[in-house]
Amino acid sequence: MLDFAIVDRSIDVAAERAATPGCARVAHLNNAGAALPTAATVEAVVDHLRFESERGGYEAAAAVGDRLTALRASAARLLGADAKEVVVTGSDTQSWTKAVWGFALGGGIGRGQRLLVDRIAYDSHYLALLQVADVNGAGIEVVPSLDDGTLDVAALEESLGSGRVALAAITHIGTHRGLINPVEEAGTACRRVGVPFFLDACQSVGQIPVDVARIGCDVATATGRKWLRGPRGTGLLFVRSDFADRLRPPGIGWSSALWEDAGHYRLREGADRFLDFEVPVAAHLGLGVAIDHAMALGLDAIAERVGGLAERLRRHLAEIGDVEVHDGGSRRGGIVAFTVGGAAPAAVAAASGAAGINVSVSEAPWARLDMTAPRPKVVVRASPHYYNTEEELDRLVDTVRRCAVG
Ligand SMILES: Cc1ncc(COP(=O)(O)O)c(C=O)c1O
Repeated sequence: MLDFAIVDRSIDVAAERAATPGCARVAHLNNAGAALPTAATVEAVVDHLRFESERGGYEAAAAVGDRLTALRASAARLLGADAKEVVVTGSDTQSWTKAVWGFALGGGIGRGQRLLVDRIAYDSHYLALLQVADVNGAGIEVVPSLDDGTLDVAALEESLGSGRVALAAITHIGTHRGLINPVEEAGTACRRVGVPFFLDACQSVGQIPVDVARIGCDVATATGRKWLRGPRGTGLLFVRSDFADRLRPPGIGWSSALWEDAGHYRLREGADRFLDFEVPVAAHLGLGVAIDHAMALGLDAIAERVGGLAERLRRHLAEIGDVEVHDGGSRRGGIVAFTVGGAAPAAVAAASGAAGINVSVSEAPWARLDMTAPRPKVVVRASPHYYNTEEELDRLVDTVRRCAVG
């Protein structure tokens, strides 16, 4: 007889749907945009808003101090980091911009230096690099992808080896297609030459396991509302403790720095130097509930279910004549990008909406380096989460089939 219990790590989809009020109203396949929260997450937010209205905002925040500390610990556990290395922010973009500018103000990005970026980089991430490059006289270099769209690690190694590299900015999963970049290999390459590695984990955190220690990144950014199913207006920033000293964040205040005397200030230690005082406490509490929920289910189980649903959807869409799937990559996650011959992506999204199915459209400005000819400039993006059902996917496939023949 076996002397250990076999733990079933699969997700109870019916229970998850029952805990998610939105599932009764819509087939939500726009989780790469913003996922449906659980009722418990919504309650945490609403309860605290009410509590603030009855007690006063500062008094209410003091009363939930332990839960806010626990949130940071949960976020750190989620990312495989130490609590001192993670702060809750207002969005992924806020995390990214502060970290990139923090590095620039710390002297990390100077005239003539090279900023390496991958081809599936997201709009706002590239914009921050472009602005820093513009102001500081640095240059941006795009690392090529393989034919299937994945980061070419050999090309990255070559670029890293040719000197004057300030940082490598790599995207784990893009906003517009499902491929998963080999970020562990990118991390190994960066560590070998001591180049700081900034990871965009916005579309991966909450969807697949993201372990910053294994990946070896110095900075990682994520958002609350997507795969973590947290409230809008929340994000995460990870800064490796031995890297934080090199960052001088813009926009400091008393929560991120100490005013020592008329001529001096001192930045707080570790990621604390990125802390804002004025934050939506209710949303942070909701994020804490959402992160704990994801970890209770297990990121491996979530990744397996999300990846399985997305592969099923790709297979069934590809069976429709006139539909092309554009995800590429040999490893893929929960974003399914496709086009329908003879029907504009916006028309497919509208037809889906009319059928009670939420999908979105990704357009060139969101990922300009990659969404360029011969690749499509606009695609339909369907992004199932673990709480979606096979039947919801089949309904989308039927709708797309009607668009294809219409
Ligand atoms: C890959 C990727 N990175 C970064 C972001 C920015 O996230 P946020 O809107 O939370 O700033 C997004 C948003 O869609 C994204 O898809």
